[in-house]
Amino acid sequence: MKILLTGGSGDLGQVLTPRLLSTGHTPVILDIRPPAHRPPGATFIQGSILDRDRLPEYLAGCGAIVHIAGWHGIHESNGEKNAHEFFDLNVRGTFEVFEAATSVGIDRIVHISTTSVHRPTTLYARSKILAEQIVTDYGARQDMNAIILRPRGFIPYWNRSVYTRYRDWAQWFWRGAVHIDDVASAVMQSLDMLGKQQIDRPPVLTLDGAYEYTDNDLAHWDVDGPGSTFRKYYAQHYDLAVSFGLDPTVRPTKLDISEAVRWLGYKPSYGMANLLAELATYGDQGPPHDAAAGCRPA
Ligand SMILES: NC(=O)c1ccc[n+]([C@@H]2O[C@H](COP(=O)([O-])OP(=O)(O)OC[C@H]3O[C@@H](n4cnc5c(N)ncnc54)[C@H](O)[C@@H]3O)[C@@H](O)[C@H]2O)c1
Repeated sequence: MKILLTGGSGDLGQVLTPRLLSTGHTPVILDIRPPAHRPPGATFIQGSILDRDRLPEYLAGCGAIVHIAGWHGIHESNGEKNAHEFFDLNVRGTFEVFEAATSVGIDRIVHISTTSVHRPTTLYARSKILAEQIVTDYGARQDMNAIILRPRGFIPYWNRSVYTRYRDWAQWFWRGAVHIDDVASAVMQSLDMLGKQQIDRPPVLTLDGAYEYTDNDLAHWDVDGPGSTFRKYYAQHYDLAVSFGLDPTVRPTKLDISEAVRWLGYKPSYGMANLLAELATYGDQGPPHDAAAGCRPA
C-alpha cells in the first residue's frame, strides 16, 4: 500500500521510510525539502500540506497517511517560528490534511501529537492541542479512522544540528524521553491496527521509553542514600555516567503508557541500560547511524 508521510524528510519520516519498505509498503514522502536519504522504492513529492489546491492530488492513490509535519518545541525555544507559523502548519496544516484525505477517500490517518500538550503555556503545545481537536472531530466521523500518538521528546542523537555530541543527547534523554525507533514501532503498529479495526473515536496514546526502574523504585527513590537506586541496576556504569555528566541521583519521570499497550501492544525497547551500554562502547561519538536502515545498530 502507498503510505504518505507528511513532513517525511524529517527525523521520524527518515526512520519510517525503510520500515515501510521492508514491510511491503510504498512510502510517499511529502515535504517542502528533499530527504537526505531516499531508498529505492520510496517516492518523494516536493510540496506543502498548506497547498490546498494541490494536496488532494498529492494524496491520491495512497491508502493511509502518517501526519508528521509540524513545527515543534525546538523551533519555539530557538525563536525560529512565531505564533502565525505555528498556527499555519500545526493547526491549519492538520485541517488541510484531514479535509483533503476525506475528499479523496483516505480513511486511515496516524496523527503525531506530543506530550507537550500537558504544558499549554507554549505556542507549540497550544497549536498541538487545537490539532488534536481537529483530528478528534474528523475521527468521530464514520468514514475516518484515526489514531493520535503522543510521544514525548524523540529527537535522535544523530541529529547533529541539535545534539553536537552523544553526551548532549544522553543528558537530555536521561530526564525522560523515548527513542525514535520506539516511536516508529508505534506508528507501524498503529497502521496495522487501522487496517484491521474500525475505530469510533481516535484513541490518544502516550509513548514513553523503557525503564528498568519499577514503580516502587520511583516511589521510594534513593531510600538507601544518593545514587542507591541507580546502583541497583547500573552499578558498573556509575563512574561512566558521572564522567559524561549524567547525574545518577536524578529520578526520571515515567509516563503512563497503558493505553498504548492496550490498543497497540506497544512495548518500548530502548531505555537507560541501552544508553549506558552505548556510552560505554562509543563515548561522545555515539553509535554509528545507518541512515539507509533508519535505525540504531542491533
Ligand atoms: N522531535 C520530537 O522530539 C517530537 C516529540 C513529540 C512530538 N513530535 C512531533 O513530531 C513531528 C515532527 O517530527 P520530526 O521530529 O520528524 O520533525 P522534523 O522537524 O525532523 O521534520 C518535520 C518535517 O516537516 C517538514 N515540513 C515543514 N513544513 C511543511 C509543509 N508545509 N508541508 C510538508 N512538510 C513540511 C519539514 O521540512 C521537516 O522535514 C511534529 O508533529 C511534532 O509535533 C516531535
